[in-house]
Amino acid sequence: MDKLLVQGGAPLRGRVKVNGSKNASLPIMAAALLSSEPVIIEGVPDLMDVQTMAAVLQALGASVRFDPIKETMHISAEVLRGVEPPPQLVQQMRASFLILGPLLARRGKARLSLPGGCAIGIRPVDLHLKGLAAMGARFSMVNGCIEGEADGLKGARIYLDYPSVGATENIITAAVLARGTTILENAATEPEIVDLANFLNSMGALISGAGTTSIRIEGVSRLKGTRYKVIPDRIEAGTLLLAGIITGGEVVVENVLSDHLKPLLAKLRETGAEVEELEQSAIRAGSSGRLRAVDLKTLPYPGFPTDLQPQFMALLATCQGTGVITETVFENRFRHVEGLSCMGAQIQVDGHHAIVHGVPRLTGAPVRATDLRGGAALLLAALAARGLTVIAEPYHLWRGYYRLEERLQGLGAQVQRVSSEPEQLISTGC
Ligand code: EPZ
Repeated sequence: MDKLLVQGGAPLRGRVKVNGSKNASLPIMAAALLSSEPVIIEGVPDLMDVQTMAAVLQALGASVRFDPIKETMHISAEVLRGVEPPPQLVQQMRASFLILGPLLARRGKARLSLPGGCAIGIRPVDLHLKGLAAMGARFSMVNGCIEGEADGLKGARIYLDYPSVGATENIITAAVLARGTTILENAATEPEIVDLANFLNSMGALISGAGTTSIRIEGVSRLKGTRYKVIPDRIEAGTLLLAGIITGGEVVVENVLSDHLKPLLAKLRETGAEVEELEQSAIRAGSSGRLRAVDLKTLPYPGFPTDLQPQFMALLATCQGTGVITETVFENRFRHVEGLSCMGAQIQVDGHHAIVHGVPRLTGAPVRATDLRGGAALLLAALAARGLTVIAEPYHLWRGYYRLEERLQGLGAQVQRVSSEPEQLISTGC
């Protein structure tokens, strides 16, 4: 079983390039099912979740060729055989549910196992189904699977009870081939929604308003093939910036769209961290002393992203003073507190709030990653801590970060992936 060994204390310095966005690549890959012509997607990161989505598309009869070195994926969904991907794949990755819209639009039928909840929450799909039903889809639950049917989707006016990213994506991909116009209100406005809309428009879709809370989609009869490059990963960029700051170093993160990181940059400046937006889509970030604690509330975009909450908590654990983190998006996204506490962090959790009393220095300890971003938080804390940290179950990280330990090594981090725990390290837990 792999583990990550981190000898903390080295300030990170240097330049590192951000990869393409996981959360843009996954819906765009699913949307490729909407065309019978070949689609080429560039800038796709070589991640476990990307491999899983590729397997889902292949299970439906699409051909998928991925060149991880060129980060280029060729998808051809000329002939779609099935309407039901293997349940274990859907259970493995919630984003598999994003093929529902394209399947209903293209085949008028879909059968998907309910995506399981995960470490951060129950994660229902009621808003997806409600929006698609407004367009004429009919759903039934059969043996734990959702069966969907549609005799031709029709444009509709839909108001989302909550600006769900996934529901917005499924409704857009269903509406692009529907008869008539769909108006989606209280839509999610994340950059990944804009990227999906730009991808679909490059195939001949007629989508306007993406990035605002009101999106208009005029249905068209068919979509052609395209070549499209996905946006950089704003969450990976934020994680790397935080790595430079929490270790008291200075890093330059390249291939970033700083507009997508405004909530993080603003919050970092409040702590006293040095953050400078450079030309050519790069950001310099660092710190030379102990930072000030701040309060933080996660919100749908353009609020502070929930996907950077765990990593920011690691920084807050080392700041001067007390900061309160309020997690409003997911109901169980504080599981990284246990590992941070093992490393000496002083954090009290009270429902949706985490009260973080900063300490001068964390200390290395044996910890366990519980989920993707929680694992990233433990890694950041370990980089800043005094001594050795052993992170068990680091595979969560491979889902969303491409060879993160190698890229951190390039910045001077003493981190390595080992296949088993060295004898002298008895994992005592804490
Ligand atoms: C996307 O998940 C991202 N995943 C998540 O990133 C991200 O945290 C989330 O959006 C919020 O920004 C991908 O893009 C692949 P939601 P998604 O639907 O679409 C509730 C990461 O670390 N909800 O906006 O599942 C839901 O329970 C991942 O990269 C309903 O109640 O997020 C949650 O509390 C983690 N009913 C809230 O809305 C629904 O039908 C936000 O969920 C749908 C959602």
